[in-house]
Amino acid sequence: METRPEMVALLGSRARNYTLPQPFYTDPEFHELDLKGVFERRWIFAGLECELPVPGQYLVLSIARSSIVVLRDNAGKISAFFNTCRHRGSTICAPGRGKARTLTCPYHQWTYNLEGKLVHAGEMQAEFDRSGIGLKPVALATFEGMVFVCLADDPPDFSEFSATLGPWLTPHNLASAKLAWSEDIVINANWKLVIENSRECYHCAARHPELTRTFFLRFDTRSTDPLVLEHARKCREAGLRTGEAEGVDFELSRMPLTGGALTLSMDGKPVSAKRLGNAPEGEIGSMRWFHFPSMFAHVLGDYAFVFRALPLAVDRTLVTSNWYVSGDAEEGRDYDREKLRELWSITNDQDRDLCERNQEGIRSIGYRPGPYSRLREPHVIKFVEWYADVMTDYLTPAPRRAGIAA
Ligand code: FES
Ligand SMILES: [Fe+2]
Repeated sequence: METRPEMVALLGSRARNYTLPQPFYTDPEFHELDLKGVFERRWIFAGLECELPVPGQYLVLSIARSSIVVLRDNAGKISAFFNTCRHRGSTICAPGRGKARTLTCPYHQWTYNLEGKLVHAGEMQAEFDRSGIGLKPVALATFEGMVFVCLADDPPDFSEFSATLGPWLTPHNLASAKLAWSEDIVINANWKLVIENSRECYHCAARHPELTRTFFLRFDTRSTDPLVLEHARKCREAGLRTGEAEGVDFELSRMPLTGGALTLSMDGKPVSAKRLGNAPEGEIGSMRWFHFPSMFAHVLGDYAFVFRALPLAVDRTLVTSNWYVSGDAEEGRDYDREKLRELWSITNDQDRDLCERNQEGIRSIGYRPGPYSRLREPHVIKFVEWYADVMTDYLTPAPRRAGIAA
């Protein structure tokens, strides 16, 4: 059976509220469809605007099969381009971050300005017209200091997410933050297992002893626990939104911490002496959100943590973790990098192990889809349903409209 009809059939016949059939996690051809149906069509978190403070600063990331460069131009505008030379297709910027006045391809030195226009191509024939050639742009959206990109020519709606999350983030002023630390790990598991794992805390009590010192394990925004109600009241008094909100491809809420913690850290004590944005003093909890297909974040009083998962292969996923602190915080004086990263680095390592064992077990001929807990894994169920809808939409041709001849 061909892969597309097979995926459509399995999406249609799968048991609801159960893990997906094996090929979704293990079949390289299914994975190719995931790249086309999800990662080449949806909005992906690129970074914060503060990571590109001056013209010429750029960052490079790979989404599905495409290397992308995100940069600030001389007018201060942030744009994104495919990092693919218009001569013979070499990548131009090396992976990572950099700063340049122009972007010069290492192969034959074709050179582009920061607006993506070709400004130099040596020894080309007289009739060659470089004016019509430029780097292919990538759709880009910014709000509240965040930068998202979408590889599709006709990106899906982004406004529901940005309009909902924006007001929650305003007091945290992420535009004034700075990137304090970033680290990549590769998890030998399918990207959906990494996301599924990040959408539940069913495993947290047993597997994240450090995180659960401060993380509110069974937080429910409808809770009538006096401590939760008091926390919400204090946050609202300080001008912070509380409760929760959600849309098709995102969820957000403000969550109190536990054990008297002031932040998510190994001992609950702040890891940066400077407040992030206009965050009031005291325990403001975590303003957290998830955006499908690839990112979640926690914004605390003193730092923000952003997690992004991007697929490398059917059974390999790149996880990038970024820690942001106040723009005027100085390393060594206001924060210690080790203390800042410790909790989430430990948690990521624990989750890597869980995801890799999950992948290993699913590879077995003994694997069968298993039931999610509707009590402890409702967000995983939401993710899987979202994924199934997105893929069904991609794989199934739009129905013929009335009046159009068959
Ligand atoms: S491929 Fe870039 S200059 Fe030739
Ligand atoms: Fe975890």
